[in-house]
Amino acid sequence: MAIDFNQEKNLFHLKTKNTSYIIKLVNGKYPAHLYWGRKLDGSLNFDHKILYGDRPVMTIIKEDNLSLELLPQEYPAYGNTDYGVPAYKILQENGSRTTNALYSKHRIYNGKAELSGLPASYAEQDDKVKTLEIDLIDQTADFKIILSYTVFADYDIITRSAKIINQGEQNLNLQSALSMSLDFEDSNFEMLQLSGAWGRERYLKTRPLIQGLQQIESKRGASSHYQNPFLALCRPNTDEFKGEVFAANLIYSGNFKATVEVNHYDRTRLSLGINDFDFNWLLKTGEEFQAPEAVLVYSDQGLNQMSQLYHQFYQERLVKSKFKAEERPVLLNNWEGTYFDFDEEKIVEMAAIAAELGVELFVLDDGWFGRRNDDTSSLGDWYVNKNKLPNGVSGLAEKINKLGLDFGIWVEPEMVSPDSDLYREHPEWVIEVPDRPNSEGRNQLILDFSCREVQDYIIDVLTKLFADSNISYVKWDMNRNMTEIGSNKLAVERQQETAHRYMVGLYRVLEKLTSQFPDILFESCASGGGRFDPGMLYYMPQTWTSDDTDAVERLKIQYGTSLVYPISSIGAHISAVPNHQLGRITSLDMRADVAYYGAFGYELDPRELSFKEREIVKKQINKFKSLRKLIQYGDFFRLLSPFKGNETAWMTVSKDQKEAFVSYYKILAEANVFSGSLKLKGLNPEFDYYIKVIDKTLSGSQLLYSGLPIGELKQEDFSSKSWHLQVI
Ligand code: DGJ
Repeated sequence: MAIDFNQEKNLFHLKTKNTSYIIKLVNGKYPAHLYWGRKLDGSLNFDHKILYGDRPVMTIIKEDNLSLELLPQEYPAYGNTDYGVPAYKILQENGSRTTNALYSKHRIYNGKAELSGLPASYAEQDDKVKTLEIDLIDQTADFKIILSYTVFADYDIITRSAKIINQGEQNLNLQSALSMSLDFEDSNFEMLQLSGAWGRERYLKTRPLIQGLQQIESKRGASSHYQNPFLALCRPNTDEFKGEVFAANLIYSGNFKATVEVNHYDRTRLSLGINDFDFNWLLKTGEEFQAPEAVLVYSDQGLNQMSQLYHQFYQERLVKSKFKAEERPVLLNNWEGTYFDFDEEKIVEMAAIAAELGVELFVLDDGWFGRRNDDTSSLGDWYVNKNKLPNGVSGLAEKINKLGLDFGIWVEPEMVSPDSDLYREHPEWVIEVPDRPNSEGRNQLILDFSCREVQDYIIDVLTKLFADSNISYVKWDMNRNMTEIGSNKLAVERQQETAHRYMVGLYRVLEKLTSQFPDILFESCASGGGRFDPGMLYYMPQTWTSDDTDAVERLKIQYGTSLVYPISSIGAHISAVPNHQLGRITSLDMRADVAYYGAFGYELDPRELSFKEREIVKKQINKFKSLRKLIQYGDFFRLLSPFKGNETAWMTVSKDQKEAFVSYYKILAEANVFSGSLKLKGLNPEFDYYIKVIDKTLSGSQLLYSGLPIGELKQEDFSSKSWHLQVI
């Protein structure tokens, strides 16, 4: 049983293959969190964790002789004897914000229900998946909270979410409705977050916990470049291969907050959900509010194990697209090769060379529509610019197809340029507030996706675009964050719902389009990696990781991204040098050794490649194709961190352990040093591996415990080496 309920002890035991999560109904009414960690067996008793009684300056609930401040609650309310971050807060018509939703009943069932209107993980028929739903009821304000816990036993994953239902006569205002809250008995953790900026997305940042609040969040209407909706608590000295990690990741692409609060007893509360900053949701009689899903991972073998659990789960039980297990096409994207300066002739010339090199998909980026020759106009006018493409998108797609390539196209459907026919026709269709000017980002405004009419318009226009031409791939971009957040279509009292309604609207549009066009491979993008999150991944199995295509910078960006997101989802391209973002010159070899670890492609003008470079590129593409399944779907191990020094190394191992690909990178060359060995991971110690580049066979045990000799490196900065290991 993945979920046991011991009625006598009022104890729920949620069990995955290797972990346990235990909840007790204290006094039959308060769901308290007693344990999460390595799997427990036998007779369990956690009574010592429930502390009753009074202490100086403590407020207590008389009838229970207990203070909620001492109770590790699963979904704490506001206004009572708990002073920590509440999981929810509800303003009632009488002005009260105090609530007290208590256990009323629960259900345990096989499988998992969908989350209405939101992306979420799913169970397949033969999965050992069970869901526990606990109903909490507040008698006074007459609302119900359903706490959902789904146990994916074989994946070692537990997901959580919450739904709030107004069962009464009065209007309720949800001022906060998080997805989860989790209390730990102590605060002996480091907090790990993925933070950064444009061009520096998802860097690993850690800090020790101290009494008080530590928080990451987004208020930008997108999950953002700056913070990812992921947070982990790690025991001190945890590294890639040892130590306990408690991680949570939110399946959501909008404003979120992840908080860690250490209280005066050194207890720690981790909460995650929609950001309650500038959030208010009017819940009328009979209405319900669904909070997004949080994905919890526990690892007792450091960060690598955590990542592998996320990778496998997301690949198999989050990504919905049929491409989830397919090898991703090698693409050429014209953005850095041409920017806006192209026409059909140029594109076809580029594609012809790309086809000779072995590229499988040509992606036409920004600038093919309206009158768009720079970023000052035409977003919203999704019809072809005949000056550039006289035969239309379909004519170009045909020509590209004739060269033996699939054709893909760029769109940015959530945006509108003030200088566009769409905006002139519908100025009221943008996110804005009354009587104030709209700020612009990249000269554009945001369409009000909270509004059904706008959603339907975009669905219609894109349906035509995707149906009229032979389109195999779509890059869905989004290049600015929200300001002046409001909707012309929402009532005054619902204005603070705009940002979340926008996300729900976007998800509806994506649901429609991705199910109408199941054969299109969708890639999401937001000025590079500004919305690399599980919510987008549900619809689009890959994401453009960063606009920073410099190979050295990419080591950090891809290393950080791999912490949570599968290698198959990480868009990684080789671009021209000097690199357009920072002017660095790196070798084609190094650029390839980095870009191989992802959804691989090129982003340059192939006409500018010399004969010699074309020969190298051909070889790279051939090599990648032969390794692609291994790299995109193998088990990924990070060996040396770019955040810790001059070297980086990582590798991937096939599920049967018979094949592996290892890469090592050294940023700055050093004089008069000897390179050591790389202790590999994930291999079978009993197998022998043949390594072609050095023409040697080494045993798995030697490679694991003594290491793979790195050998001589080129005497240059930014060097790399890769090894393909095979059991013959
Ligand atoms: C931002 C994206 O990240 C780039 O790859 C490119 O598509 C541009 N937008 C086009 O405007």
